[in-house]
Amino acid sequence: MSGAVDRADDQPFRPPQARHDTGTGGSRRGACGRSRRCPRFDPRPLAHPTILSESGGLREAHRRIVLAYSGERAQDGVMRGYDDASYGDGFADVYDDWYHGISDIGATTNTLADLAGDGPVLELGVGTGRLAIPLAATGVEVHGLDSSQAMLDRLAANDSDCIVHPHLGSMIGDLPAGPFSLVFVAYNTFFNLLTEADQQGCFAAVAACLAPDGLFVIEAFVPDPAHDPASALTVRSLTVDRVVLSASTSDPTTQRAEGQYIDITEGGGVKLRPWSIRWATVTQLDEMAAAAGFALAKRWESFDRSPFSPDSPRHVSVYRAPA
Ligand SMILES: C[S@@+](CC[C@H](N)C(=O)[O-])C[C@H]1O[C@@H](n2cnc3c(N)ncnc32)[C@H](O)[C@@H]1O
Repeated sequence: MSGAVDRADDQPFRPPQARHDTGTGGSRRGACGRSRRCPRFDPRPLAHPTILSESGGLREAHRRIVLAYSGERAQDGVMRGYDDASYGDGFADVYDDWYHGISDIGATTNTLADLAGDGPVLELGVGTGRLAIPLAATGVEVHGLDSSQAMLDRLAANDSDCIVHPHLGSMIGDLPAGPFSLVFVAYNTFFNLLTEADQQGCFAAVAACLAPDGLFVIEAFVPDPAHDPASALTVRSLTVDRVVLSASTSDPTTQRAEGQYIDITEGGGVKLRPWSIRWATVTQLDEMAAAAGFALAKRWESFDRSPFSPDSPRHVSVYRAPA
């Protein structure tokens, strides 16, 4: 739409002002210059819906929405009512529009096809098939697991030749038996597992369905909690008849971040799109991998196989199962 302001740099599962990476592979520090802290919470209750046009504008709205949201948190810190299907069900209708170009599909599928050999391959959190469909088109057998039926419905609609084998379930307890030559989990999706125990459980489940010497590939961001704001409210996109806001919180002590995209349309009201993650450092991932019997075989900065360095904002880690 003419006059639209669209933030192309947002990503699934990232506190908006903590995004150092814009997909261009630049330095993780200082590129965005957005490390500001949020103002203190305003103790007043959430007020009239026209809050955005009142005095104080977005800053005031930020205070009040974060306060209201904080009141809805369960004691264990997980957003109340959030479960394995919440992300997929909340984003399935916009996922391809918002995130189709979030990473280099050609580089990703080339590298995965090289690593997979004769296959078969399993993707955890397959979503709409953004990666699985082009990977399957290279000729390798691809299975895709997802906990959201809404996402699998989008996958089915995108996969008109039915070249991806869909599976509904969780990436801890419902992995197909295999054996697979390669299991991968792309674009921060591993961090959808919200506790260290669940993440460790996923490593164990992957180990159980890999062939001897099989590979487990994780693509994720490198946490940089010192630069993550405790809370943030930003504008994702703005048109004459729609505004998408992003409200998020981040807690370095629990390694948890979560948020909502608040999608407001003139005719359609408000749609909430929740997300929640528990991030892990590369060292923590390596420790979980080792505990499940994996050895780190390779670590790149991205699927284009550029070298990983201490300043890399992202990583692609390749773990090898025992022979
Ligand atoms: C960010 S999307 C990634 C989709 C796809 N891999 C891509 O790169 O475009 C994350 C996907 O993981 C799924 N997911 C979240 N938690 C899950 C879980 N515990 N088990 C299986 N899938 C899960 C969501 O439903 C969603 O489809």
